[in-house]
Amino acid sequence: MRIILYLGKGGVGKTTVSAATAVRSAMQGKRTLVVSTDLAHSLADCLQTNLTSEPRELTTNLWAQEVNVLDEMRQGWGKLQESMTKTLRKQGINAVLADELALIPGMDEIVSLINIYRNARDGNFDVVVIDAAPTGETVRLLSMPDTFQWYAAKIMGLQNGFGFARPFLKAMLPTTEIVEAVNALSERVKALREVLSDPTISSYRPVVNPERMVIKEALRAETYLALFGYPIDGVVCNRVIQAGNYQDAFMQDLYQTQEKLRQRIHQTFAPLPVWEAPYRSREILGIEALGQLAETIFADEDPTRVFHQGPVQEIIQQGDSYILRLPLPHVEMDKVVMSKKGDEMVVEIGNFKRDITLPAVLANQEATVAKFVNKALEIHFGAPSEQTDKSA
Ligand SMILES: Nc1ncnc2c1ncn2[C@@H]1O[C@H](COP(=O)(O)OP(=O)(O)OP(=O)(O)O)[C@@H](O)[C@H]1O
Ligand SMILES: [Mg+2]
Repeated sequence: MRIILYLGKGGVGKTTVSAATAVRSAMQGKRTLVVSTDLAHSLADCLQTNLTSEPRELTTNLWAQEVNVLDEMRQGWGKLQESMTKTLRKQGINAVLADELALIPGMDEIVSLINIYRNARDGNFDVVVIDAAPTGETVRLLSMPDTFQWYAAKIMGLQNGFGFARPFLKAMLPTTEIVEAVNALSERVKALREVLSDPTISSYRPVVNPERMVIKEALRAETYLALFGYPIDGVVCNRVIQAGNYQDAFMQDLYQTQEKLRQRIHQTFAPLPVWEAPYRSREILGIEALGQLAETIFADEDPTRVFHQGPVQEIIQQGDSYILRLPLPHVEMDKVVMSKKGDEMVVEIGNFKRDITLPAVLANQEATVAKFVNKALEIHFGAPSEQTDKSA
């Protein structure tokens, strides 16, 4: 099975590109499911149909589904949460607080991810395309399996009598029933995490437009995905104004501004492939129009294949210092110029310019040396010295 997840800032075209990819995949003979985790029902609008929380066949090989996270949560997690609330209340904790305590943060997302995967497996789908919510929520969604494991371990820890806080928490010790349920869920979350980070199964694709703010958000997403070890295999640059002889000054200006950013996108996300989708004068609605869009984006390629393998950035710790490693197979070594401001860093090598969003651990550090090793740029970071701290 292949799982492809499109993510990006609100309104960039995630739903459109997800649906287009799914249509093309189905046309190429693969049993394909496109799922939206967004409550706004835009996937249904985009496909010009009605969708429910059960996969629905729209045409040969093409199925679509809109997951209602709240519903899923009530079904999947509700019973367990209820019994947890009851236990807490029995132990004298007031009802509102018990409700709150029983709510593991992000549980709704976990349950919906588990269900998407289960549906996909039970329905024997070859390809699942996930039309995710805007970046912040998606990053939260993808960080949940790890957060959940942390919570689960805490709950088990309480049961097993670990932790110095035990006397205070004695009243809140989970019952065997809860521990069993959490254990079972924990196993499923672990399996899910493995599937979501397996590069032969799952691929994450940021969608951008040639706009600074949009690119910035995609870079941040790229950093998070890299940190969590989720494989990215390409970027879609949507709403690209095509070259033309524009008489209108506004259009001419817009085209030129986009053109610079479009080139920047290719450099910044290298070595990932960047697919471009043209800006159409009308919304792209319905299976036929979506199929045509996908053909423009992917040409004869199979849009579901794995387009890139290997991490796009790695952080290697060496004692107190860190090395940020960026594979740049197509860049010839030249003089490297770096500038860093907080968590934003720009690396210039000859005509090549790349923006990087640094993870928190590197944001406070000083970039000291940059060199090419095995077709990758390695930037060394160390604790900031007093002087450079001021200039940073
Ligand atoms: N290349 C394009 N040319 C013209 N219109 C487009 C293009 N891509 C998307 N649109 C239109 O832009 C609107 C927003 O697109 P879409 O719903 O796919 O974005 P989204 O990223 O899913 O948004 P949200 O963050 O709200 O979920 C839609 O009306 C869609 O038809
Ligand atoms: Mg959408």
